[in-house]
Amino acid sequence: MKITIVGAGNVGATAAQIIVDKALANDVVLLDIVEGTPQGKALDIYQSSAVQYSDTKMHGTNTYELTGNSDIAVITAGLPRKPGMSRDDLLHINSEIVATATKEIVKYSPNSIIIVVSNPLDAMTYVSFVNSHFPRNRVMGMSGVLDTARFKAFICMELNVSIENINAIVLGGHGDSMVPLVRYTTVAGIPISDLLPKNRIDALIERTRNGGAEIVKHLKTGSAYYAPAASIVQMIDAIVNNRHKIMPCCVYLQGEFGHSDICLGVPVKIGASGMEEIVPIKLSDEEKTAFDKSADDVKSMLKIVS
Ligand code: NAI
Ligand code: 2OP
Repeated sequence: MKITIVGAGNVGATAAQIIVDKALANDVVLLDIVEGTPQGKALDIYQSSAVQYSDTKMHGTNTYELTGNSDIAVITAGLPRKPGMSRDDLLHINSEIVATATKEIVKYSPNSIIIVVSNPLDAMTYVSFVNSHFPRNRVMGMSGVLDTARFKAFICMELNVSIENINAIVLGGHGDSMVPLVRYTTVAGIPISDLLPKNRIDALIERTRNGGAEIVKHLKTGSAYYAPAASIVQMIDAIVNNRHKIMPCCVYLQGEFGHSDICLGVPVKIGASGMEEIVPIKLSDEEKTAFDKSADDVKSMLKIVS
């Protein structure tokens, strides 16, 4: 197993470290345009493996040759969101970066599975999918795992229960119109609506939608990376260990959930071949309206990058 991570910034380097800690690959290649950054971080992380007793080897590079024959390639390259900047402001610059990274990955690792992380996520996944010419099972975007993790964390804080008790799923785009599904949210199997009044649930949904911005506001420079990195690694773990695990991921839709020619967050089963299937779930009229609104927001971005 060889994993390439394009972008050795906060998200990319943290994901690399978790992969090494969990020994999920034989080799991890960190690539960045800044000279010295991927080399220095790779060496530092590699040395941590001597403490963690992980046999994963780390490599740092500024060019794609070393990434050759990767099984998985994660694209985190781009600009992070700064205070006052919306995800959509990043659209133009990051689509150029993601398109170039995708073409290089395809050239050197034609059989890889691509996981896109750069923002705005749904549009960048679309850019990567279109530029890769890969079948759709091999290009996925990471956002639903993170958004769901945030929703679960906020429920945990509210109810003071174990995180293991909580089941939830957030669909749609990685933006303000994302769709946390209350009807599918349970605590030890108990519907959340039996445990919390509507106004509290609405407040948790709102906080989830603003989850990224809340952290940007605290950090002032840069955006979240610990939970994003852990979320990337959950997807990688499902591929590496062929888990057939269902999680929300951004994938190219061909009529599923009523949408086509768009990448959007839907429930996906992940295994060794990447996306194994899109899991069909029934949405209520209200949920479908919210999902369609989120799709419309993503479509307006796609008009700009297409
Ligand atoms: P960062 O600024 O720490 O790292 C980005 C890295 O990309 C930098 O080291 C930069 O030098 C590098 N880079 C820029 N252009 C490149 C190119 N052409 N080739 C290779 N490397 C290049 O940012 P951070 O915090 O790591 O975030 C990375 C991206 O992920 C951002 O777009 C951010 O908005 C996004 N993000 C997405 C999340 C999601 O849920 N999908 C969650 C968190 C971040
Ligand atoms: C987040 O949600 C910036 O998209 C990133 O934290």
